[in-house]
Amino acid sequence: MDIKFSDRANGLKASAIRELLKLTEMPEVISFAGGLPAPELFPVEKVKEIFAEVMKKEGTSALQYGPTEGYRPLREIVAKQRMSTAQMDLTADDILITTGSQQGLEFSAKLFLNKGDAVICESPSYLGAINAFAAYEPKFVEVEMDEEGIIISELEKALKENPDAKMIYTIPDFQNPTGNDHISKIREVYGKRRDLMLECMDKYFPAEVKHTNPYGGLFAWVELRDDLDAAKIMEECIKENVAYVPGEPFFPTRGRKNFFRVNYSCMPDDKIIEGVKRIGKVLNKYYEK
Ligand SMILES: Cc1ncc(COP(=O)(O)O)c(C=O)c1O
Repeated sequence: MDIKFSDRANGLKASAIRELLKLTEMPEVISFAGGLPAPELFPVEKVKEIFAEVMKKEGTSALQYGPTEGYRPLREIVAKQRMSTAQMDLTADDILITTGSQQGLEFSAKLFLNKGDAVICESPSYLGAINAFAAYEPKFVEVEMDEEGIIISELEKALKENPDAKMIYTIPDFQNPTGNDHISKIREVYGKRRDLMLECMDKYFPAEVKHTNPYGGLFAWVELRDDLDAAKIMEECIKENVAYVPGEPFFPTRGRKNFFRVNYSCMPDDKIIEGVKRIGKVLNKYYEK
């Protein structure tokens, strides 16, 4: 069938990396590719209880359509929280509830970006944001970052060179302000898994391979030698039944191939050890050459 897509949809390219990642769904693959939280830590019973209570007390209004901006009592709570953390003067009328932050990113692109507008972002950056913005055909301006985030002097340079930039997209931290009674439990488990993954990378990867030492979030970022291509190496890793995400799509203007991302939150200890060993076995061949 001849489907008439929009020019925007026609401009979207199939991703070789996405095809590669499909292979990671095979059950025998130890995949560090996803960004998944540990399912065994989901507060299923607590959510069940809350759901039952809401259905009992306000079942019909909970299932009814609500205002477009979102449930007012929730917007009031969000406004209060943001006032104390962001030091901004806010009321519920300033708050719009979205379905996750991804929808907020989509909205901001729709609201602010014309074709060719400059978007300044960290290099590398969050893939979901890059894709949300890319649909509006901006000019991405990448700014180098260090362990503390975007390098301010580089940001100043980028702003001078792009005085009409429409957006600065930065990921200021890893935290999620909701549900502190759950977060402490997650922190302990993720902290241990992170330590184990870093320890294994130090032990099994060639000594020249660099990695970040994340103090939050779900991922570590690995840097290979300049001439290596993490997507090509991943093809060999898949044969060893282990996977990560090659880093190139995290650079909005592409071209940097020697990085990859590993997730440490989702795998039990034995799989972290075995998976990192397998990646190390593949990498060692490249560094011996
Ligand atoms: C930096 C960043 N922003 C946004 C999102 C998307 O979040 P949500 O699930 O709330 O849409 C993610 C998810 O991984 C993320 O890492």
